[in-house]
Amino acid sequence: MASNEIVSWGNEKIEWSDDLLLQAEQDDEDHREMFALMNRVFSAARLGADVVTSAVADLCLFTREHFTREQHSMESAGYPDCEAHRYDHEYLIFQLDVLIDRLMLSGPELVAEELVDLLKRWLCDHILTYDSAFVEFLRERGRGREVA
Ligand SMILES: [Fe+2]
Ligand SMILES: [Fe+2]
Repeated sequence: MASNEIVSWGNEKIEWSDDLLLQAEQDDEDHREMFALMNRVFSAARLGADVVTSAVADLCLFTREHFTREQHSMESAGYPDCEAHRYDHEYLIFQLDVLIDRLMLSGPELVAEELVDLLKRWLCDHILTYDSAFVEFLRERGRGREVA
């Protein structure tokens, strides 16, 4: 699967890597914004459960919006792997929702490791496999979808 080294993180920060760029303007912009929101989650960790919960909720909201945009693009393009891609989105949202519930119950310390694992999967696997395959499909069909 995708390299786990493409993104680096310490305890509180995930570094963006240009290796994640898909050269598709809207996707790249959204993915960068998600990095910013994820890093807000990490920096909120010191400030207590309420701040973390709010930061995770923001991440979740933006992620849903991004997924809706992508799904709309896939449907409009008649993308044949749309359902599998959508399923992965739903699974990721489900995992984020579960984490928010656990955050409320247990506090940020106990879910930090799981959050990092989820973000790793999200960043390294989803963007580089599902999103990348869709952008490639658009390119092959010569549609470009407002590519920068
Ligand atoms: Fe996606
Ligand atoms: Fe995406």
